[in-house]
Amino acid sequence: MPLLDESVTSPTETSPTETSPTETSPTETSISLEQLLSQSEAKIQSLEQAHVEEMNRREQVERELNEARQLLQLVMDTLPEAIFWKDRNSVYLGCNRNFAEDAGIGIPEHIIGKTDYDLAWKEEESQFFRECDRRVMLADRAELGIVEPQLQGDGKQAWLETNKAPLHDERGKVIGILGTYQDITVRKEAEIALHELNQKLERQTVELSAALSQLQQSQLQLVQQEKMSALGNLIAGVAHEMNNPVGFLAGNLLPAQNYVRDLLGLIALYQETLPNPGEAIDSKIDEIDLDYVREDLPKLLQSMGEGIKRIRNISTSLRTFSRADQEHKVAFNLKDGLDSTVLILKHRLKADEHRPAIEVVEQYEKMPPVLCFPGQMNQVFMNLLANAIDALEESSQGKSFSEIKAAPNRIMISTQVSSCASQAVIRIKDNGIGMTEETKQRVFENLFTTKAVGKGTGLGLAIVRQIIVEKHGGTIVINSELGQGTEFVIQIPLETA
Ligand SMILES: Nc1ncnc2c1ncn2[C@@H]1O[C@H](COP(=O)(O)OP(=O)(O)OP(=O)(O)O)[C@@H](O)[C@H]1O
Ligand SMILES: [Mg+2]
Repeated sequence: MPLLDESVTSPTETSPTETSPTETSPTETSISLEQLLSQSEAKIQSLEQAHVEEMNRREQVERELNEARQLLQLVMDTLPEAIFWKDRNSVYLGCNRNFAEDAGIGIPEHIIGKTDYDLAWKEEESQFFRECDRRVMLADRAELGIVEPQLQGDGKQAWLETNKAPLHDERGKVIGILGTYQDITVRKEAEIALHELNQKLERQTVELSAALSQLQQSQLQLVQQEKMSALGNLIAGVAHEMNNPVGFLAGNLLPAQNYVRDLLGLIALYQETLPNPGEAIDSKIDEIDLDYVREDLPKLLQSMGEGIKRIRNISTSLRTFSRADQEHKVAFNLKDGLDSTVLILKHRLKADEHRPAIEVVEQYEKMPPVLCFPGQMNQVFMNLLANAIDALEESSQGKSFSEIKAAPNRIMISTQVSSCASQAVIRIKDNGIGMTEETKQRVFENLFTTKAVGKGTGLGLAIVRQIIVEKHGGTIVINSELGQGTEFVIQIPLETA
């Protein structure tokens, strides 16, 4: 609406048709002044009218504006989210009721001019909020779903999921930031509780599986110890029972040799004294080939002596093998352990109708007795040698007797002192089937076996590892190539008595 009525002429303006004052009479002048006055009054009136209208219009606009503002506040206050907006310097310009309550300022109007440091939150939380504002305004890009903690006006430590977006003026320049958030404390606490529960469960699972594997190990060892001690008892019993008859033989052999010598001397004396004993005696002498008996009988008795010595050695070996371990380590000659184990396995090394005997090549470097648990070391040798024989038997399958004879099955056993002189090194090597890479990785696992059901339990090497690594602080290494053979290299600290 125009503020001035353009039809009303200004009193200073002069119409070109009006008569010049020099030509006007006083009466005419008075009339024209009156006209001018009434025109001015009309103009003032119309101006006053316009002013009143303008005031009304302004009031209306203000009313409408207030209503719109109230409606906007109502809408914002009704929303479940907390809403706030700030200027470029992160100074608050407004917020809704939810936000005002969280901030501990009572009503939304109180937020104007405040910064985060004036509100309920912790200082580090305020710093975080402002850093986030700065990032959003600088990048001119909204950040959504920011999960952040917030200490609220009522002392509650809440978790928020916040969205922040830059605010622009009409030219697109960033002038501030608009933020909304939801209180996700319940969800977050449930998540945290779940996470903690998961961690607890994981810990318990780890503990349980450790306990289970410990239990398996102990069970395994018990079974093996039981087996070994049963075997040990049997062998010790056999060795003991052998001792008595061997004792008789050994004890009687010397007198028997003396008697034979005496009797042969007596015969010689008879022959000298009675050179012609008669036909019956001569023909008996021929029949029994007396000269040969006289020559052979002492040799025969001597070889019986050798046999007795051998049986004695076997008996000693058996007793060595069946040694029960004490609480502490004792000095033990590794060669004796290996010899006695080979002896126990002799029946498996012998030739049969399918293959010739397995050759055993032994190379023992001079070494002092080693402090160890002899019964357990024998168990290690037993498992490794039994595995080597299995590997050779498997590689012999499908080959003819003569083929095997041309490239004989062989087990090499050696002991030596390591170059640094601190370790006893034991090598057990076969030229059997060898291992695949996967088998090599898994051989020390409990119950891992590639053998048929009933043939292997998959415990042997798990026990070997336990005895060498855990009980003796040693190491065990495998060198193996599929189709070529396998070598186990054991090292144990060379603690001597
Ligand atoms: N000398 C070897 N040559 C080739 N493979 C071997 C040799 N020694 C062990 N293995 C492989 O390692 C696996 C595990 O050996 P381990 O002695 O632990 O169990 P097993 O011999 O199968 O059963 P057992 O419990 O009766 O000893 C064997 O099944 C075999 O596949
Ligand atoms: Mg085995």
